[in-house]
Amino acid sequence: MSRPDRVSQSRPSADARRQGDASPADHGHELPILGYDALEYWVGNAKQSAYYYRAVFGFRLVAYAGPETGVRDRASYVLEQGDIRLVLSSGMDAEHPVVTHHRRHGDGVRDVAFRVPDTVEAFELATERGAVPLDEPTVLEDEHGKLVIASISVFGDTIHSFVQRDDYSGIYLPGYVEVARDEIARPTGLRAIDHVVANVELGAMDDWGAFYQRILGFSQLRHFDDDAISTEYTALMSKVLSSGGGRIKIPINEPAVAAKRSQIDEYLDAYDGPGIQHLALATDDIVTTVRELRSRGLGFLEVPREYYREAKDRVGEVDESWGDLAELGILVDRDEEGYLLQIFTEPLQDRPTLFYEIIQRHGATGFGVGNFRALFEAIERAQAKRGNL
Ligand code: FE2
Repeated sequence: MSRPDRVSQSRPSADARRQGDASPADHGHELPILGYDALEYWVGNAKQSAYYYRAVFGFRLVAYAGPETGVRDRASYVLEQGDIRLVLSSGMDAEHPVVTHHRRHGDGVRDVAFRVPDTVEAFELATERGAVPLDEPTVLEDEHGKLVIASISVFGDTIHSFVQRDDYSGIYLPGYVEVARDEIARPTGLRAIDHVVANVELGAMDDWGAFYQRILGFSQLRHFDDDAISTEYTALMSKVLSSGGGRIKIPINEPAVAAKRSQIDEYLDAYDGPGIQHLALATDDIVTTVRELRSRGLGFLEVPREYYREAKDRVGEVDESWGDLAELGILVDRDEEGYLLQIFTEPLQDRPTLFYEIIQRHGATGFGVGNFRALFEAIERAQAKRGNL
């Protein structure tokens, strides 16, 4: 999380620390997480990225920190839609950490920040169990109250911040100035973050799966091996970790050995290491949302026509019109509990790294494993065009 530098910062008091819990060394029990607080992106030009997210995705600019507000070294734009909060930051000089991160990775997600009831407890539990500490718990205060923030390192240069904000009524963090109106943003029906997916190196998935379970107390929802997720050319394996009563879902992918280079390998090369591969954003009306996003120029992976012949048989009755789904390229999958609709964007950067999924669930709790093959074949066509297959 990009800290403002003009606000009072202090260490939590001994009292605050004692409030943590009587049993900080507990093993296995879930570290209390309330949900996502924000996703912070470190980008090359946050001003222009913010415009893209506002104009195309319909995020509303709600707060800003930068030179005009007394923050000298960076600019940060806070964007919201539904329960989703994104923060886009860029640095002002060549040696700024955001700039060196960008030089290596291009635009990407730096921080998947969790909202927690008690930052000190979360940080101490995690680090006592072996998480790598990055920022010790710090109290940030202004006239709107106080927050407690800490962070740990995870895969690559990605971090998780813990944010305790129940005593804070400000727009985001101290140092940010509220933006009253956004004349550009028109919402597209995006409501919440459904899941956040990581790509890690070959052989690292099990270690990170164990990390989330043992250190952060997540539970493993599912595991897909390379038989489930493979095409003629490429394969990957995936594990889904969950916390916060299902509010946090983090699938972790690793490449599997196959005839050609997998899309995960392509990502790992382009991002120069592991990182966040995609964000799935939930809508309650995917047909309207996707039609709107397409009309604003967002590019999606193309789905072959044949997919819909096969999908009708596989999925059965759905509330939506098959004509709309086929016209917009929306994928459908069914599991024991219901069905889901999903679609994947092209990467948002010139480097083939981060992309988005738009998802609507009708009871289904899975991730569209029945679509993986159709989807990966579409990704491979795009990968082949880039000369990376
Ligand atoms: Fe996904």
